[in-house]
Amino acid sequence: MRVLVLLGAPGAGKGTQAHVLARHLGLPRVATGDLFRAAVREGTPLGLAAKEYMDRGALVPDEVTVGMLLERLAAPDAARGVILDGFPRTRSQAQALDRALAERAAEVEAALLVDVPPDELLARLSGRWLCEAAGHTYHETAYPPRVAGICDICGSRLLQRDDDKPEIVRARLEKQLGALEDVVDHYRAAGVLQAVDGRRPIAAVTNDLLDCIEPVPYWRTHP
Ligand code: AP5
Ligand code: MG
Repeated sequence: MRVLVLLGAPGAGKGTQAHVLARHLGLPRVATGDLFRAAVREGTPLGLAAKEYMDRGALVPDEVTVGMLLERLAAPDAARGVILDGFPRTRSQAQALDRALAERAAEVEAALLVDVPPDELLARLSGRWLCEAAGHTYHETAYPPRVAGICDICGSRLLQRDDDKPEIVRARLEKQLGALEDVVDHYRAAGVLQAVDGRRPIAAVTNDLLDCIEPVPYWRTHP
């Protein structure tokens, strides 16, 4: 089982890169933020509980988040491995993941930190548009879609997230960056942390991430 963890502040580019890596590596992308948003849309008890935290820019409690993630990891399509996007977000989530993987004789292969300074994140999130069907990500000035309001990849409608309003973004950064540091420390201590400069263009960041995990350069396998 191949488990890669993408780490980064809100808006650092985790989702953008996770979609590309998932296609390239043939592994499912598992994003706890997407799982929560789906539960909110469906109005399930989990969604109602999570919404209260998401609307305040706070992390959803570990008891709720870990159970949801472990259930997703038990699905058949995750048997070969996963790209985790947005999980773990606390040291306790990281420890729970380690324990669950150890039960399957597996471990986190790499924790890849997409590093972007806080002053760039507000601009990224306030200009973000996501496709309704699959969450493919655009930015209204840096990475616009070919046709305004429509996803280049799957043709579905582009929407903005409720928590991308400037006041909620500020709360997300304020409340979540400390916990990110704890998770970074956890993986640094485990010897699997690698950081890339997330301020570079999207394709350059992708290549840097692939360099971290693939001994053979991408261009040699995709001439
Ligand atoms: P989640 O959905 O995970 O949000 P997040 O971590 O805040 O991160 P984002 O999805 O906002 O940013 P991203 O890093 O994916 O950036 P993106 O690629 O979109 O979580 C939402 C909420 O759910 C949390 O606040 C919390 O309440 C809850 N939650 C989720 N997981 C949880 C957990 N494990 N525990 C507890 N609570 C949890 O890119 C952003 C923008 O930048 C886009 O417009 C993109 O086009 C642009 N961009 C990307 N890369 C570049 C680049 N290289 N250069 C220029 N622009 C770029
Ligand atoms: Mg995301």
